[in-house]
Amino acid sequence: MRKLVHRPRRLRTSPAIRNLVRETKLTAHDFILPLFVSEKVESRRAINSMPGVSQLSLGEAVVEAKNACALGLQAVLLFGIPSDKDEQASGAYAENGIVQQAVCAIKAACPELVVITDVCLCEYTSHGHCGVTQRDGEHFHVLNDESVELLAKAAVSHARAGADLVAPSDMMDGRIGAIREALDAEGFQHTGIMSYAVKFASVFYGPFREAAESPPQFGDRRSYQMDTANAAEALREAALDVEEGADILMVKPALPYLDILWRVRERFGKPTAVYHVSGEFAMVKAGAANGCFDERAAVLEIMTSLKRAGADLIVTYWAKELAEWTRA
Ligand code: PBG
Repeated sequence: MRKLVHRPRRLRTSPAIRNLVRETKLTAHDFILPLFVSEKVESRRAINSMPGVSQLSLGEAVVEAKNACALGLQAVLLFGIPSDKDEQASGAYAENGIVQQAVCAIKAACPELVVITDVCLCEYTSHGHCGVTQRDGEHFHVLNDESVELLAKAAVSHARAGADLVAPSDMMDGRIGAIREALDAEGFQHTGIMSYAVKFASVFYGPFREAAESPPQFGDRRSYQMDTANAAEALREAALDVEEGADILMVKPALPYLDILWRVRERFGKPTAVYHVSGEFAMVKAGAANGCFDERAAVLEIMTSLKRAGADLIVTYWAKELAEWTRA
């Protein structure tokens, strides 16, 4: 019988050899930990739909940031929950707003930690939309340019507080350019922009809206978030953000959009992030709780696939656990 020259199985014969030829390896540096900082919480308040995740007081947010640092994580992503909401989302750009205070306190406690802030209005508007709205009867519009102006103000206030990167997640048109311009004008040329360049109108944000107390009070977000069905449009959106000055591109959610992640990484060659969102998190938690699979194994498989598909950075609620699970 002819001798086989190629025997792929040879490379799978032992764990050591499998490890040696592994193409995608996870480390703590791959992960960004999201933190919810609330003006209304004394210490910690559990989020029902996200087991193990809590809203944090300012003090607890600092504790979490220190823990993240100690575990070897490089970055956190901050979301704020203000005690008061209004039509103009004033809390989003208040000098002494909750996120602004949190950035300051975390940078003081962990100067080497990269602090990223989510820039959006939905946690701060009384109606829960990501921009300023105008209602006429049954219908409502999100006022794009008015919203962009407020988003730029919010980004500048985060930079002033010491944020290293701002992450606009609103999906208004032209916001990256406007934010870049505003940051530069205020002397924050070194503050980078991690753009939620491709953000689909997804059901998987459900638990987050409990966490951030931001479910829309009327209508939905489909007029500004992207249609799940559209890939070419996703690439056009990403191209605009690149042109307008985005430093890091983000795709969100993660697993249902691996094709988009791959194409964004290939086409633009920019540092590319992916957000494994709250609903994806809850889904795995529920599956594991029901004995469908082992949580750790499932999470490691998912994260490996995200990195293999092109993610340079992964925003995940498992960042702390992953820092431990991937320790060499
Ligand atoms: C704010 C924002 C959302 C998420 C991140 N930033 C929610 C939304 O658009 O409804 C979702 C994150 C998650 O689900 O984990 N606009």
